[in-house]
Amino acid sequence: MRVLGIESSCDETGVAVYDTVQGLLGHRLHSQIDLHAVYGGVVPELASRDHIRRLPVLLREVLEETGLSFADIDGIAYTAGPGLAGALLVGAGVAEALALALGKPALPVHHLEGHLLSPLLSATPPEFPFVALLVSGGHTQLMRVSGVGDYALLGETVDDAAGEAFDKTAKLLGLGYPGGPVLARLAQEGVSGRFKLPRPMLHSKDFDFSFSGLKTAVLTAASAPGFCEADKADLAAEFQAAAVEVLVAKSMAALRHTGLRQLVVAGGVGANLALRSALDAAAAKRKARVFYPELELCTDNGAMIAFAGALRFKAGERGAQGNGEFAVRPRWSLQEIAVPREAP
Ligand code: KG4
Ligand code: ZN
Repeated sequence: MRVLGIESSCDETGVAVYDTVQGLLGHRLHSQIDLHAVYGGVVPELASRDHIRRLPVLLREVLEETGLSFADIDGIAYTAGPGLAGALLVGAGVAEALALALGKPALPVHHLEGHLLSPLLSATPPEFPFVALLVSGGHTQLMRVSGVGDYALLGETVDDAAGEAFDKTAKLLGLGYPGGPVLARLAQEGVSGRFKLPRPMLHSKDFDFSFSGLKTAVLTAASAPGFCEADKADLAAEFQAAAVEVLVAKSMAALRHTGLRQLVVAGGVGANLALRSALDAAAAKRKARVFYPELELCTDNGAMIAFAGALRFKAGERGAQGNGEFAVRPRWSLQEIAVPREAP
């Protein structure tokens, strides 16, 4: 089965074709970073309009790249949530309209399920069951993943998401947008330990996280008399070290608790190289392995949506037969398509 995937939940437009026998045939991505940079954050209305402009172009490009025509597509998967309502509606509208015109099924996909399953697209994929650390701009969760749609929440952030903390910290240090990668680059030039930041909830004996206090501690340090431009790299390094330490400690605790030896890291913060090397080192000590999506599939993309859709089609989900009726879910908990929360 060949599945066309469409992602438009935030500021990336992604289109891909996944074949259940041959794997990922092709994918195209357009990032709106430049469009929103001047505003220091994503402007929802601009995002929606740009998705409208880009989707037809990307669809044509991905068909050219794969040598396919619409007639070769057996089903369409699209991100139905969570995300920006208007942005989601563009992808959903295009997907459902195509499905209606082609007489093919359209399947709404949960964005986080796309992230969660994306490491399975790599050359050496993990096998079910595994522990997943989902770290994006909107979510920070630890889960036991036993199969497609079988997700047990172990713990999550009680306030800001990890990526959100990177973004907000970068903003208050005046580092620009998008904050995560910029802050990570600056952190490489600094040393941690000169400034002392807290490791929130490190010893809380559960799998929950908290990042908003860390951001506030950065603000306090940066507002102290004498703090200057040259100190920013060391503060960025300390912030990153604190965030990474907590993410690594809780991930290892989750492996211990579940008795599993595979950790999957998904979501934009999974692109952070300091996080990757710390997780690899900690896992090696426990004889566990860490799996990441290919770097280009860490942040939002169409490939993960085509893939998650393909797995669901394969599992027997049929989707609507393109009757032109659809809804998006800007707020949509992954647990609504999953099994209930596990006690720590
Ligand atoms: O998964 P994603 O593309 O979008 C969603 O939030 O769904 O994740 C984006 C987040 C942003 O907060 C961004 O700053 C963060 O991932 N991010 C990073 C890095 N690259 C992206 N955070 C830390 N270090 C990075 N290298
Ligand atoms: Zn995402």
